[in-house]
Amino acid sequence: MRALVMTEPGGAEHSHVLDLPAPEPGPGQVAVRVAVAGLNFVDVMARRGDAAYAPSWPHRPGKEIAGTVLATGPGVTGLAPGDRVVAATHGGGLAEIALADAALTVPVPAGVPLEVAATAPLGLATALLLLTDAGRFTPGDRVLVHSAGGGIGGAVARLLPLLGGGLAVGTVGRAAKAAAAREAGYAAVFARDAELPDRLREATGGRGFDLVLDPLGTTALDLDLDHLAAGGRIVLYGNPGGGAPAGLPPFGRLLGANATLTGFSHAGLLAAAPAKVADAVRRALDLLATGALAAPVTTVPGLAAVPAAHDLLAAGHAEGKYAAVL
Ligand SMILES: NC(=O)c1ccc[n+]([C@@H]2O[C@H](COP(=O)([O-])OP(=O)(O)OC[C@H]3O[C@@H](n4cnc5c(N)ncnc54)[C@H](OP(=O)(O)O)[C@@H]3O)[C@@H](O)[C@H]2O)c1
Repeated sequence: MRALVMTEPGGAEHSHVLDLPAPEPGPGQVAVRVAVAGLNFVDVMARRGDAAYAPSWPHRPGKEIAGTVLATGPGVTGLAPGDRVVAATHGGGLAEIALADAALTVPVPAGVPLEVAATAPLGLATALLLLTDAGRFTPGDRVLVHSAGGGIGGAVARLLPLLGGGLAVGTVGRAAKAAAAREAGYAAVFARDAELPDRLREATGGRGFDLVLDPLGTTALDLDLDHLAAGGRIVLYGNPGGGAPAGLPPFGRLLGANATLTGFSHAGLLAAAPAKVADAVRRALDLLATGALAAPVTTVPGLAAVPAAHDLLAAGHAEGKYAAVL
């Protein structure tokens, strides 16, 4: 079977489509014939060699898949060959056949196309868990989201009205990405430039944000705290610049802002609380099945087209969500 393999840290030049032996499912595992694989910034972080994202080399990227069950390993119940499923994988999803834990493999409801379903295990589940589990969103909250024009940013804006609605304000690194964020449903989108503090103050009438979803390492944390409503929550969940993030603000700053600072890691939940991720995936698929949730996706053709799509993500030029159709 063919699989995308990253042979050493760097860029697209080290991503190759190779023929590998088909993997056999072990106890509690499922082998899935992958039809569509979601693309995510975490694969770009692994590709460039960020510590903890690619623990060993060669690296097999791909953390969310949709397809059909090929075979089940010992002890697996409730899943059978031919079932249409999605799965959050621990890696290796960008391949014709991927292994997944049965606990993280969820049937796809009838009527949900696999291109769309493939964005649920990591992308939609993360957006949902950021808002609900980590962010404790309540209807009416004023929510600030950085990197609003990307895959997670778009999903957050589309989910927020389904959770009761509120004010969604986004920031983008380049003004050109504002249109993608507005299309996803943000009431206002601002470039992260010198005028941003004034724009954010105007957007909430000076009342601040109840929830900030911040994937920018610690680079925007001072800004987040400056614009946080008393008792507000900030969720940190990314480090797109790589390297060691700067430290957290001093103790007194957090106390003075009455701030709750939370971390979120999809990979951490896969290891420690997989049922939470599986529940979020099920909930996202249900919202897709009823038509309540739209999840637009830009597809790229085949594994060979993935390195160029990863280049787009790496350069910060990606808009919306991407998936590879195998
Ligand atoms: N903790 C978790 O479990 C988890 C799960 C999924 C995603 N994430 C994080 O959530 C973020 C969004 O993920 P995504 O897959 O939807 O990707 P994405 O938003 O489509 O792409 C990443 C975005 O990060 C921003 N960025 C800021 N600094 C950057 C830099 N130095 N290099 C490249 N991009 C930079 C860019 O948007 P702007 O310039 O517009 O800000 C870029 O478009 C990523 O940071 C990702 O690591 C975390």
